[in-house]
Amino acid sequence: MPFPMEVLQASSLSFPLLRRHSRNNLINKFRNPTLPRIDIPRQNIDLKTFAATTPTVACPPSDPEIIPEKKEDKFDWYENWYPVATVCDLDKRRPHGRKVIGIDVVVWWDRKENAWKVFDDTCPHRLAPLSEGRIDQWGRLQCVYHGWCFDGVGACKFIPQAPHDGPPVETSKKACVKGVYPSCVRNGIVWFWPNSDPKYKDIYLTNKPHYIPELDDPSFTCTTITREVPYGYEILAENLMDPSHVPYAHYGILELEKVKESSKRDREGGHEMEISVGTIDVNGFSAKHVSADYYFVPPYVYYGRITPNAATKTKDATLPVVPEEKTAMIVFYCIPVTPGYSRLIYAGARNFAVQIDRFVPRWITHMSHNLIFDSDLFLLHVEEQKLKDLDWHKSCYIPTKADGQVVAFRRWLNKYGGTQVDWRNNFTPALPPTPSREQLFDRYWSHTAECSSCSVACKRLNALEIGLQAMSLVFVAMAAAVSAPATRYSMVAMAVLSFLASKWLSHFIHKTFYNHGYDHAFV
Ligand code: FES
Ligand SMILES: [Fe+2]
Repeated sequence: MPFPMEVLQASSLSFPLLRRHSRNNLINKFRNPTLPRIDIPRQNIDLKTFAATTPTVACPPSDPEIIPEKKEDKFDWYENWYPVATVCDLDKRRPHGRKVIGIDVVVWWDRKENAWKVFDDTCPHRLAPLSEGRIDQWGRLQCVYHGWCFDGVGACKFIPQAPHDGPPVETSKKACVKGVYPSCVRNGIVWFWPNSDPKYKDIYLTNKPHYIPELDDPSFTCTTITREVPYGYEILAENLMDPSHVPYAHYGILELEKVKESSKRDREGGHEMEISVGTIDVNGFSAKHVSADYYFVPPYVYYGRITPNAATKTKDATLPVVPEEKTAMIVFYCIPVTPGYSRLIYAGARNFAVQIDRFVPRWITHMSHNLIFDSDLFLLHVEEQKLKDLDWHKSCYIPTKADGQVVAFRRWLNKYGGTQVDWRNNFTPALPPTPSREQLFDRYWSHTAECSSCSVACKRLNALEIGLQAMSLVFVAMAAAVSAPATRYSMVAMAVLSFLASKWLSHFIHKTFYNHGYDHAFV
């Protein structure tokens, strides 16, 4: 699902501004093996620094990587912040359950401390999920099985069954929530540190989630979407780093760059791609493709900064002057959930065409985003099933440089990440069986139910559908009551129109919020 509509808009709006020869110069620049250094943006240097960024032209590997023996070169999956949810999709009035890197967590708003808290989603009494509970009138997290209540540090504050004059059993350490994770909000996302050891209590002071300033910049508009997908973190990450599948898997719904009809070799317009990838180390890698810089910051962030007008910033007076720096950001947070399942939080930001973004309701933009997810969902699910017992490097044939970032990611995973997400023996290596196609393409539980915009729109449109059906009945009754033939005919016509509108709306609601499906053959 990479590069949603913002990129399409960035490309289509900006590239026509470049003269043909300047575009060619730009492309030639990226073909040159003496490429300039790709710099990680200054504002991020304090968070993650790449050891070396001298780019090399991507070359598909033929040899499997050797796992390093140096301990410091091993990536620790549990020494990192993980995104839990976007703040705009969380309701402060209720707890929310999420699974992240195999850990069930409950995220809830502690109004005493004005902070989102992330706990292990397990009640210490008899292990019921706290995420099914509620926030009581004193702002405590209440387990709804037997009513035990917990404060923002996980201490038990109330056991309804304890006798008034008995020992204060709620003060026992055993009554506390076992896992209270460090949490924070950054870039509009609630994050948690997946280790509740007290030594990490103040981890935020020394180690913060990767920050992307454009997402908080008021001159940018930012839109986010979260979607659960039925394939694992590894497949999700490599898919996002793969621009060459876009003209095919997302044909007709997403276009990365305009390709002249005369230079197309097929209807879809796939073409040679020069992607240069910097040095890969334990902290990830950077890459460059046409007018965009991409960064992989393990384990969760992959993002691109696209500045299509950068090529015109030159002293050459013969070239058009484009004073405004148009920048589009595409940010993907790839979250491991369980083997075979992952969650993507996408954030798109841009500092142009912002009026359109402010005008269009979020749930409308989610229609196109979800369609992009749907269009390669089945391909990726099946790919993962086929790869489960195979070595990626040996099984896949990677002859072109278009797969440069995918190869880089697999190299990083092989060399530093232990070849896959570290599930800490919580799961068997086997992938879950393939669910029915209907379940695979489910949109309701994978998105709508937890999206604050789509869930409201879905409820309102369902109410409108019922209203249209009621109107249809009212018109039928009115047609029966009136005697004038002309009035009767118009009432019948209105009844039919209302009925047809309700039918169309029902179909629209199903496709938009419940299940769209996707058929590539007739796109
Ligand atoms: S299981 Fe939570 S109160 Fe009993
Ligand atoms: Fe949505």
